[in-house]
Amino acid sequence: GSHPSIARAAYIMKQTGRQEDDMDRITVETQPIEGQKPGTSGLRKKTSVFMEPRYLENFVQAIFTGIGGVAGKTLVLGGDGRYFNDRAAQVILRMAAAQGASRIIVGQNALMSTPAASNMIRKRQTDGGIIMSASHNPGGPDEDFGVKFNTPNGGPAPEEVTNRIFEATKTLDSYDILVTDDVDLSEVGETQLGDMVVEVVDPVVDYAALMDSLFDFDAIAKLFQSGFRIRYDAMHAVTGPYAKAILEERLGAPAGSVVNAVPSPDFGGGHPDPNPIWAKDLMDLMYSDDAPDFGAASDGDGDRNMIVGRAAYVTPSDSLAVLAANAHLAPGYSGGLKGVARSMPTSGAVDRVAAKRGLDCYETPTGWKFFGNLLDAGRATLCGEESAGTGSDHVREKDGLWAVLLWLNILAETGKSVQQMLDDHWTEFGRNYYSRHDYEGVDAAAAEGLMNALRAQFDTLPGKSFAGRTVASADEFSYDDPVDGSHSAGQGIRISFEGGGRAVFRLSGTGTVGATLRVYLEDVCEDPDQMHKDPQEALADIIAAAEEIAGIKERTGRAEPDVRT
Ligand code: G6P
Ligand code: ZN
Repeated sequence: GSHPSIARAAYIMKQTGRQEDDMDRITVETQPIEGQKPGTSGLRKKTSVFMEPRYLENFVQAIFTGIGGVAGKTLVLGGDGRYFNDRAAQVILRMAAAQGASRIIVGQNALMSTPAASNMIRKRQTDGGIIMSASHNPGGPDEDFGVKFNTPNGGPAPEEVTNRIFEATKTLDSYDILVTDDVDLSEVGETQLGDMVVEVVDPVVDYAALMDSLFDFDAIAKLFQSGFRIRYDAMHAVTGPYAKAILEERLGAPAGSVVNAVPSPDFGGGHPDPNPIWAKDLMDLMYSDDAPDFGAASDGDGDRNMIVGRAAYVTPSDSLAVLAANAHLAPGYSGGLKGVARSMPTSGAVDRVAAKRGLDCYETPTGWKFFGNLLDAGRATLCGEESAGTGSDHVREKDGLWAVLLWLNILAETGKSVQQMLDDHWTEFGRNYYSRHDYEGVDAAAAEGLMNALRAQFDTLPGKSFAGRTVASADEFSYDDPVDGSHSAGQGIRISFEGGGRAVFRLSGTGTVGATLRVYLEDVCEDPDQMHKDPQEALADIIAAAEEIAGIKERTGRAEPDVRT
């Protein structure tokens, strides 16, 4: 039979009596769809929701409207390869072409990692980009899909932009789209879609060149030649081709060092989140007798990372601190750092580095977008979050493979193992024991109730003791952006204890089902004899105090957290 879109075009021609030469651009009537409010990182919903009639189209139209239209503009289009990525790409291309965009730069087969897309937006000075991803959430027909917009600085859209997008979702009544065949995205090169150029690029080349400009590739290659072994788990997601090209082909890590390297629409049935739970195979290997020297993993769209040495898991908060203390060993950072930044729930380990080295240190709300202004203004060079995100001013997203390469560069320069790096770091700066407890799919009202009950205690908690720890302060974090003066309220509840411990309560902004309660637990240790405890044990009294204060078990009905990182 004939191609469905051709059949549809013929049908439309018959219905409207339009002529052949103007028939391929149509205006589709629609109405607002509820719930299209972008969250921490774009709009994420079940794939089946995104596949409902006009759901994707409405949101894409809202992006276009929210940024003042796409006429004459150049955009980057990236994606993590999850189920529906290929279909969604064709829709976005057809809508952009129908609405006068001049060029879309798209990764081959509609694949491009989030940090690579950020780089492409910056390098080609485009008007921004659209990334199709639900990050570390599983993919597939029954799992998650997502779409986010990044601004011309390469970073996630700030709230002012996402608010405009959300407003547009509530008022739109039609969208223009071409009725055409699919564009072939399997070959690198330029094709024409209506009046728009579709430029299909190898998604790895420019990114690899950027990494080469920041790191001492010769030193890392020598490290591999000396027998240093690495396992990089791409988790069946987008970084597979990047890691193969850079770690194996360019730096000479033995073939097979990169595993699960072929992006698959359902991430091999797994959960592409680089943490000890979801990257369990890698953790098991790294804690076995046959452990290589270095293990790493990245998430669905390539912006998160996990670092683990031989029997040495590195928490994201510690990773940020170690990188901040040693980044100058890599050529791209040899001039030192302008400053560092972390999200509020991230541990204070990096603050200790900043204090000792005389660096400015910023505390922002959760979400990479809050680092953008600091990076743009040259106030910070390195940023990181407890949610496995680390990055620098080289792009405006966190960057998984970048973190891996910076670690490797530092290990190559120092000749130390991962465990030695941690030991020396804790000896010099002290250790911030840290753990995050997640309660997933909690009843939304129960979770709100818990948060409200905490808010009601802000005035009465200070001075009271729980599990032997005295509360020093209790408040809700809000942020005044030092660059543009914007104010963000309600960014997580902080309970600080005397002596430096802390419990933070926050509701996730990225979940798609119910509420996810995150409890971030931290305690400071400066005793050299106490540096190697199990974090759950070291944090036992903070954990108990958090439970006493918040009544987590009673309010959520959960005896245990679903995930402890
Ligand atoms: C995304 C953002 C991160 C943020 C994380 C928080 O991954 O890119 O910057 O830290 O979401 O997720 P949460 O589920 O805690 O809101
Ligand atoms: Zn991600």
